[in-house]
Amino acid sequence: MTHLFSQLTLRGVTLRNRIGVSPMCQYWSREGMASDWHLVHLGARALGGAGLVIAEATAVEARGRITAQDLGIWTEEHVEPLARITRFLREYAAVPGIQLAHAGRKASTAPPWQRQGQDVAVADEEGGWEPVAPSALPFRPGSRKPRELSLGEIKQIQVAFARAAERAGRAGFEWLEFHAAHGYLAHSFLSPLANHRQDEYGGSFENRIRFTVETAQAIRGVWPEQYPLAVRLSCTDWVEGGWTLEESVELARRLKGEGVDLIDCSSGFVVPGVKYPQAPGWQVPLSATIRQQADIPTAAVGMIFEPRQAEQILAQGQADVVLLATEMLRDPFWPLHAAQALGEVVTLPKPYDYVLHP
Ligand SMILES: Cc1cc2nc3c(=O)[nH]c(=O)nc-3n(C[C@H](O)[C@H](O)[C@H](O)COP(=O)(O)O)c2cc1C
Repeated sequence: MTHLFSQLTLRGVTLRNRIGVSPMCQYWSREGMASDWHLVHLGARALGGAGLVIAEATAVEARGRITAQDLGIWTEEHVEPLARITRFLREYAAVPGIQLAHAGRKASTAPPWQRQGQDVAVADEEGGWEPVAPSALPFRPGSRKPRELSLGEIKQIQVAFARAAERAGRAGFEWLEFHAAHGYLAHSFLSPLANHRQDEYGGSFENRIRFTVETAQAIRGVWPEQYPLAVRLSCTDWVEGGWTLEESVELARRLKGEGVDLIDCSSGFVVPGVKYPQAPGWQVPLSATIRQQADIPTAAVGMIFEPRQAEQILAQGQADVVLLATEMLRDPFWPLHAAQALGEVVTLPKPYDYVLHP
């Protein structure tokens, strides 16, 4: 048995293998609603054999969307279209996951295929809105200037995360990832590059992690005990004076103490113009460090393309799960192809199985 195709149990949830679909914004919703697109997009990857299928960054409030086309879960009406998807994923043996997100100062932009150069901001008259953030610092010239959140508003957003987690549970998700990476709201509290606050949410390490730790607590407080809670971190900003891997290790320890079960180890994107050392497996060392030094299960993500590469990451103890994004768009059946390459036989849904495994 390969590592890639061994099961993983966290709390009461067992993944059939260690392959997950990394959350990927589709920018293809109206009013945050899931549609047939999401059912087929996510459902195809369950049929393709992934153990875990994580739905894209899903906004906990309308203001927390990156674009007006983002998926959302800020009302009860959002629940049933998502429930339709989780029923399908479960029926075909994938654990349904959701990523809860707030875009912070990166909100109110156009979908990526409409963005031209630096001109990413969407004005009020074009359906945009005023972003909110720890500090009134735009992401880049041309981005909308966010309004600094008051202490009361910070609490309200944390309540919105908890309400969204309750709805996610009612929608049938069994794995919840809190998005604290990529320069969105939680990450912008963590990083001194985006957080210039003078109060208890800014300045020292303790203050900068407060939003993320409290929000994780709020989610864990309502998220069913038997379901895992993951947090995606940008484990380093890759910038002098930014958030560091050492800080991520310490934060991971704290989050573990709050009942977080896994750290999904991404990096970067809190400020523009950074040159990232992108190469196959480039973020895997971050995962290995967090896993070893904070003693918590991790997911590795980023340019994981090859079955043997994925197997090696797990075999070397660098992660507990591998997440694939781009490669899963290219090939929804990546897990089945990986099984073939590694000499594993996996059970398929009957209409496929009796043909392919007679
Ligand atoms: C189309 C697309 C949408 C993405 N949306 C999200 C998202 O919603 N949340 C998130 O945390 N990361 C998002 N990402 C980042 C991926 O989850 C992943 O971390 C990144 O693409 C690196 O993995 P890869 O090299 O396998 O593509 C997105 C990536 C792509 C390509």
